[in-house]
Amino acid sequence: MIIKEAEFVISCTDIDKCPKSKLPEYAFIGRSNVGKSSLINMLTGRNFLAKVSVKPGKTRVINHFLINKDWYLVDLPGYGFAHASKVDRQKWEQFIRKFLLHRENLFCIFVLIDSRHEPQRIDLDFMEWLGEKEIPFVIVFTKTDKLSKTKMSQFELEYAEKLMETWAETPQMFISSSETGLGRDEILDFIERVNKS
Ligand code: GTP
Ligand code: MG
Repeated sequence: MIIKEAEFVISCTDIDKCPKSKLPEYAFIGRSNVGKSSLINMLTGRNFLAKVSVKPGKTRVINHFLINKDWYLVDLPGYGFAHASKVDRQKWEQFIRKFLLHRENLFCIFVLIDSRHEPQRIDLDFMEWLGEKEIPFVIVFTKTDKLSKTKMSQFELEYAEKLMETWAETPQMFISSSETGLGRDEILDFIERVNKS
């Protein structure tokens, strides 16, 4: 798919303030600092569309980006931000879960996983929750430029094995790097297919 247009639409902390449109939406979620905002910039080819930071906890609100006037990418705040207060974490839980549960035009969630770390309980629990709620999702491994090809294949296999402990089928998985653009075509093709389905 060719990205002709990518525009920031709105930041909000409440589902009622999100765009009223019913266009297909794809939300990016995962631990703080995993590379959600960077991936949105890589996919759209716009370096400064979503705000990126070396410090975790950069994205604090729900950000909607309209792509080709046809569908939305949604950048969400990360979970597991160690320096957030308990109240902040609870607020995050509330507004993100509400968004994920009730946003009708959310076609699919991209759960981002840092390919440099072993499977983390927080990610596995989050995916189980999505499964329980029957919210469709796929996995994207990020920062794979930091790993050799062999290490990456090994990591993918091990991650799939871990998922098989709780899932009958493994979700679809993508390998990405916002540094090299790896995974861009695959992810955009996937979105194009889902848009048409
Ligand atoms: P929060 O908004 O804080 O939840 O973080 P985020 O998940 O949006 O992460 P962000 O895109 O801000 O990236 C965090 C850091 O990781 C930045 O320093 C990025 O440059 C770096 N980063 C993101 N993706 C990649 C990647 O594919 N490769 C490498 N090497 N670094 C990356
Ligand atoms: Mg971010």
